[in-house]
Amino acid sequence: MANRIILNAISYHGKGAIEHIIPEVKQRFFKKAFICTDPGLVEHKVINKITDLLDEAELAYEIYSNVKPNPTIENVQTGVQAFKDSGADYIIAVGGGSSMDTAKAVGIIVANPEFSDVVSLEGLAPTRNPTVPIITVPTTAGTGSEVTAYYVITDVERGRKFVCVDANAMSIIAVVDPDMMSSMPRGLTAATGMDALTHAIEGLITKSAWDMSDMLHIKAIELIAKSLRGAVNNEPEGREGMALAQYLAGMGFSNVGLGLVHGMAHPLGATYDTPHGVANAIILPTVMRYNADYSGEKYREIARAFGVPDVEKMHQEEYRRVAIECVAQLSKDVGIPQSLHGIAKEEDLDFLAESAFQDVCTAGNPRETSVYEIRELYKSLL
Ligand SMILES: NC(=O)c1ccc[n+]([C@@H]2O[C@H](COP(=O)([O-])OP(=O)(O)OC[C@H]3O[C@@H](n4cnc5c(N)ncnc54)[C@H](O)[C@@H]3O)[C@@H](O)[C@H]2O)c1
Ligand SMILES: [Fe+2]
Repeated sequence: MANRIILNAISYHGKGAIEHIIPEVKQRFFKKAFICTDPGLVEHKVINKITDLLDEAELAYEIYSNVKPNPTIENVQTGVQAFKDSGADYIIAVGGGSSMDTAKAVGIIVANPEFSDVVSLEGLAPTRNPTVPIITVPTTAGTGSEVTAYYVITDVERGRKFVCVDANAMSIIAVVDPDMMSSMPRGLTAATGMDALTHAIEGLITKSAWDMSDMLHIKAIELIAKSLRGAVNNEPEGREGMALAQYLAGMGFSNVGLGLVHGMAHPLGATYDTPHGVANAIILPTVMRYNADYSGEKYREIARAFGVPDVEKMHQEEYRRVAIECVAQLSKDVGIPQSLHGIAKEEDLDFLAESAFQDVCTAGNPRETSVYEIRELYKSLL
């Protein structure tokens, strides 16, 4: 079977990338922007970097900021109404995965109103029309949502997060400017960076991986290994490395899928509001161990990308152990908690395991799994 790659039509990378927004808007004759963001970014004036540009160019916009981390169906539905009321003709999503995912869901529903219940978008949604044009400006370095066909919404009533995969939801222009990320505090930088690492590792070993996605994921791991510690200390090279790395990982996994780490992280986000990157980072080394025998030579590539010398000479058991150790050490160095103790509760394990088993991402895991085995994995992390 042939492999398919879908990416943004245009993307800008590096310091000063946001300067390209205005010429793009003018060239497309867009009239009014619906800025989809969250309250923290308004409060901390991160959003002003974009609104200042629009003000200067005398371009109209309206700000929608009813987005919470792990965004909900309600966030999407009030967003759809606000978009309609605003008279806007395009969206600028400014924020982390939560703002960008909400923007995608809003844009898709405005263009395909038959999905206004939101839940019917789960999985591969058969939408007919492309989203309202979206320009994405990530302010975290993790999700890669600016280049993925994915968006993740929380169904509060059923206590689950659901993953939607839809090429029609792609943002046309991604603006990946490390300066938009420099205001992130240490903990957020660490968590979102570990999300990106999880994308790269899961995307590398997922069932549908192939040469082109491997190339992207290996480069992403190499950059994260080099850059995340510096980014946590707000060093410019670290920020730049992470901005690019998380985008490369997004380019890859969006086209091939993820695995059980994401499958297990989503129920934690839905049940306890655990930040997505923290959930992934805690689970990652354990699931890497679980998947090791189903990963061929890929863990050798991971160890090499982390800069481990002489990986060629290592036997299988050794390079697999070393790859997992490198990931666990990085997670520790950037201050991620090392267990789910105090996060997940033993009495919820049946529900969590069932929910993780049903998650869209779990299907991409290289090792076939079961509710029982997932429950055991959660339990080992308590
Ligand atoms: N679409 C995808 O492909 C994809 C992939 C992975 C995860 N996700 C989803 O993305 C969401 C997580 O997104 P996230 O980790 O980027 O965080 P987020 O968008 O949830 O933001 C978390 C917090 O960080 C703050 N913040 C963001 N940028 C900041 C900055 N520059 N300075 C100061 N504060 C800042 C926000 O105000 C918010 O309070 C989850 O719902 C997850 O499931 C989506
Ligand atoms: Fe993720």
